[in-house]
Amino acid sequence: MELSNYSVHNGVIYLEPYRASQFEKSYVKVREKEQRILSDSQVLQLPYLSNHVHSKEWELRQESVERFLRYLPHKKLRILEIGCGNGWFSNLIASKGNFDVFGTDVNIKELEQAVRVFACSEVKWVYTTKVELLSPLLFDVIVVNAAVQYFPSIPKLLQSLKTVVAHNGEIHLLDSPIYPSDQEAQKASQRTEEYFGIMGFPELSNQYFHHKNKDVKGADWLYKPSKFGKLLGKKNPFPWLRFKQADI
Ligand SMILES: C[S@@+](CC[C@H](N)C(=O)[O-])C[C@H]1O[C@@H](n2cnc3c(N)ncnc32)[C@H](O)[C@@H]1O
Repeated sequence: MELSNYSVHNGVIYLEPYRASQFEKSYVKVREKEQRILSDSQVLQLPYLSNHVHSKEWELRQESVERFLRYLPHKKLRILEIGCGNGWFSNLIASKGNFDVFGTDVNIKELEQAVRVFACSEVKWVYTTKVELLSPLLFDVIVVNAAVQYFPSIPKLLQSLKTVVAHNGEIHLLDSPIYPSDQEAQKASQRTEEYFGIMGFPELSNQYFHHKNKDVKGADWLYKPSKFGKLLGKKNPFPWLRFKQADI
């Protein structure tokens, strides 16, 4: 695959023509209202964001980021982040090793911010709604960080990712809630519906999905939050899941 064959606008590589979606519009607006769309200088600090309304949340995320970066082997790897947003995590990965990193998203505002903020980085910033379009590129590691809740089905997502994961490659899910039972997921779904209603974007609750343990069958739980872990200072509430290519 020759990326140079694709159109580039403001530094973002378009694997398909841009189509404005209701999701993108509402997502960006609600994130602005939540103060989660950060300034360029704040993005540069991530995940070590201080003096911000969401600093506490970023403290928890530092834990999973550091764990994941320690896990990556010291060898040449091609790595893909799906749902990279403003690009801080893809950029951090690229800065830690001999890695060829790609970050994809469907939200142009933040992809263009990634291009701007990480102008010196070698990461390729890609707009695509279909990960299969990256084929025949194959990735050693694919990571979905704080984004799997926007995909309706984890098994279907894994089948798409299977088309672009290398032999012996791995797919990692980080920083998203996975509910132990249907009942817990149902309760969370009601909370989400109420929340987006109050925020003025009720349509977003149809785009936010509550995945359950049974949706991640076959995953290795590399980190599982627990009360005991919390006592030891491991406060991140989200699991870290790994799927090996051979097991998908
Ligand atoms: C909460 S942000 C996470 C950003 C970043 N990965 C992080 O860890 O902070 C979720 C991102 O997923 C993106 N997203 C949602 N649906 C997507 C899809 N179908 N394909 C690619 N990205 C998607 C959103 O646009 C958003 O940028």
